[in-house]
Amino acid sequence: MATESPEKLLSPVLSAYWDEPDAWTLETYKRRHDGYEGLAKALAMPPDDVIAYVKDAGLRGRGGAGFPTGMKWQFIPQGDDKPHYLVVNADESEPGTCKDIPLLFANPHSLIEGIIIACHAIRSSHAFIYLRGEVVPVLRRLHLAVREAYEAGLLGKNALGEGKDLELTVHAGAGAYICGEETALLDSLEGRRGQPRLRPPFPAVAGLYACPTVVNNVESIASVPALINRGKEWFRSLGSEKSPGFTLYSLSGHVANPGQYEAPLGITLRQLLEMSGGMRPGHRLKFWTPGGSSTPMLTDEHLDVPLDYEGVGAAGSMLGTKALQCFDETTCVVRAVTRWTEFYAHESCGKCTPCREGTYWLVQLLRDFESGKATKADIDKIDDIADNINGKSFCALGDGAASPIFSSLKYFRDEYEAHLDGRGCPFDPAKSTLWA
Ligand code: NAI
Ligand code: SF4
Repeated sequence: MATESPEKLLSPVLSAYWDEPDAWTLETYKRRHDGYEGLAKALAMPPDDVIAYVKDAGLRGRGGAGFPTGMKWQFIPQGDDKPHYLVVNADESEPGTCKDIPLLFANPHSLIEGIIIACHAIRSSHAFIYLRGEVVPVLRRLHLAVREAYEAGLLGKNALGEGKDLELTVHAGAGAYICGEETALLDSLEGRRGQPRLRPPFPAVAGLYACPTVVNNVESIASVPALINRGKEWFRSLGSEKSPGFTLYSLSGHVANPGQYEAPLGITLRQLLEMSGGMRPGHRLKFWTPGGSSTPMLTDEHLDVPLDYEGVGAAGSMLGTKALQCFDETTCVVRAVTRWTEFYAHESCGKCTPCREGTYWLVQLLRDFESGKATKADIDKIDDIADNINGKSFCALGDGAASPIFSSLKYFRDEYEAHLDGRGCPFDPAKSTLWA
């Protein structure tokens, strides 16, 4: 990977024509993206063959967990008399994660085409897109694109072949981070308060309305048309053996040119920074997250870690959503962790005690560090509270909240110590553009 040319490394598929104002239309999608050619190929294949094809290609879920997409589709029981559902998780909310929203805005037909292919594969006649409600322009555009697809006969009566209809419903959520957790999302879609359900049963067995349901991320589904159209060998020629393909990286923070960068899995942060203009002038990388704040932070020692599930895992973190938040030397780690923890405390759904109470108390203690009220014992206390949240909470939000505490203590314990005994934050907030 390190020897590849920048042209090969930055070879956009999903983001190819994002800059064009009419990129989102059906006409442009067909003309420029070979739009709906993957669908034609998929519909010519029996459903099980489509699942096997996606499985062989090695596509892994792009929402954070990296679960194999084809395997998830295969879990849907066949020969039963219950309806099957596809639900696309477009409730993107992980701090630093901002890839699905621009994808939906600029290229919604890649998602719609992927949805039709996936519904053919899992024998579903009704799909849903659960979108973050705050992004009203995206919601409007998505509705327009779905209407275009209905008018073109790609959705609706006989969309999946003679006698096989397909309905697609776009649903806007009300802006709760927890509704990105797949079972909370399903509860919310059913009209209830969004709180996680106990798993198992996984949605594949009992999901929407207690029926077999595939819940997939926007980017995962939007990647399927190109995969089918260009072939699994092409897909596997990108990325690494266990993490093949292309993906969207969200580069943010103290970088010269924040934005979405599409590249194969396995690229490194060093390569991405080199290609995108690096850190802001005159500054150096101090710490970063591979996949949003839920994934343990890494430091400048990890610039050459391959950004795939295995590489980041071996470095002691997780690839997650590929939200690369980069912080330079002007950033106080304690302040960054405090802001993230405030977010988790605010978004905790309150269902289980370790997360509900733990995140609250973490915020109180972290604020004591900032103001200089904390003592040495408080360092052990935040570690202990995080330990009582991690693995003991009902859903992954709790683990995500504990993660920045552990990783910041691992790499920057001295910075916590510098805040103790009346000293407070030693950093000048005016020098940082992020945390003032
Ligand atoms: P998970 O690993 O528990 O599950 C991943 C997927 O595989 C789920 O769809 C689950 O239903 C399915 N699955 C797992 N085992 C299964 C089995 N035995 N049978 C059938 N299906 C099975 O991960 P989870 O909790 O769904 O997601 C956590 C990830 O979400 C984190 O890695 C985080 O990065 C990411 N995340 C993303 C956000 C975003 O804005 N995109 C927000 C917050 C977290
Ligand atoms: Fe709710 Fe937090 Fe418990 Fe998840 S871990 S169920 S968000 S209280």
